[in-house]
Amino acid sequence: EKGNYRHFMQKEIFEQPVVVAQTLRSYLRRVDQSVALPQIDFDLSTINRVTIVACGTSYYAGMVAKYWFEQFARLPVDIDVASEFRYRDPVLEPGGLALFISQSGETADTLAALRHCKAAGQTIAVVVNVPTSSMAREADLLLPTHAGPEIGVASTKAFTCQLAVLAALAAHLAVKRGQVSREEEAAIVNHLVETPAALNAALSHDEEIAAMAHLIAPARDVLYLGRGPDYPLALEGALKLKEISYIHAEGYASGEMKHGPIALIDEAVPVIVLAPSGPLFEKTVSNMQEVRARGGKVVLISDAEGIAEAGEGCLATIEMPKVHPLIAPLVYAVPVQLLAYHVAVAKGTDVDQPRNLAKSVTVE
Ligand code: F6R
Repeated sequence: EKGNYRHFMQKEIFEQPVVVAQTLRSYLRRVDQSVALPQIDFDLSTINRVTIVACGTSYYAGMVAKYWFEQFARLPVDIDVASEFRYRDPVLEPGGLALFISQSGETADTLAALRHCKAAGQTIAVVVNVPTSSMAREADLLLPTHAGPEIGVASTKAFTCQLAVLAALAAHLAVKRGQVSREEEAAIVNHLVETPAALNAALSHDEEIAAMAHLIAPARDVLYLGRGPDYPLALEGALKLKEISYIHAEGYASGEMKHGPIALIDEAVPVIVLAPSGPLFEKTVSNMQEVRARGGKVVLISDAEGIAEAGEGCLATIEMPKVHPLIAPLVYAVPVQLLAYHVAVAKGTDVDQPRNLAKSVTVE
């Protein structure tokens, strides 16, 4: 049921504050501000390495998680897309946690990678939205997202719910490994608890983003830039735009611009910069200035502080609430989803059923 919405994708974008809150509720204990995985009988303190495998948008959620597992839990992380992982003879040693992320739980390459890791003696953790799926059944540690059924082919609410679970898992591993104190755990929980309100604040810019869709719709190519945990969001923004609006888009780590893609910059290529204010802001802004100096048209997505500092001279700005860096990837998912959505609507494409794509990719 689409209710008052024009498309399932739009409805699912707007459901995010509720479903992310729902997902967080089953991983966070508000009473003592701690993280509690649903399957708490499982001891993760002996894990010495994490191998993350997924496809598409779920893979980008894994890329964000890599930053968190390293930063909070001090665990080495290896990550790959399932179709590559399967065929590269990865080194899988005892004590490894193999983590699979999937909305459907049926993606053929991800499932095959899971079975490969199981046969190699890895502990299998699965972040999945369909609790009856093959991956859910084959998991040692099942970490469900509570996004509810996702109908739109382009994944939106499943992605932010995956990030919510992965942040909780990173915090749990950090506690188990003695890497964070009780106070630090409580602080992480408090930041996560702020996510639904921040998602609502991000969604309140919907009309403004709709109004700027005409700036992007005529473009043939669009670049997305981000740094650190927001770099995967640049990749996700580009994927969303290409899959539903059919505009060629690429996501780049901001610092990689000068190593090639800057050659593409001219007035016809909009560059969307994801740059929450914080420790990485200045670096990203200097990459943005390099784009501007070459005539590039920049859309800056930042908070009030970032926009006050660097928004002048941009083609447009989109103001996000000021949030802790931990939850920025969840919050910045909203404007990239909305931008792709409104550009697709402006172009008149079939938003919920984009050409050539299937919701669940069960062939290899
Ligand atoms: C993008 C998208 C796909 C899926 C990918 C993995 O919007 O929906 O990239 O993320 O096919 O699917 P799951 O998560 O079901 O394994």
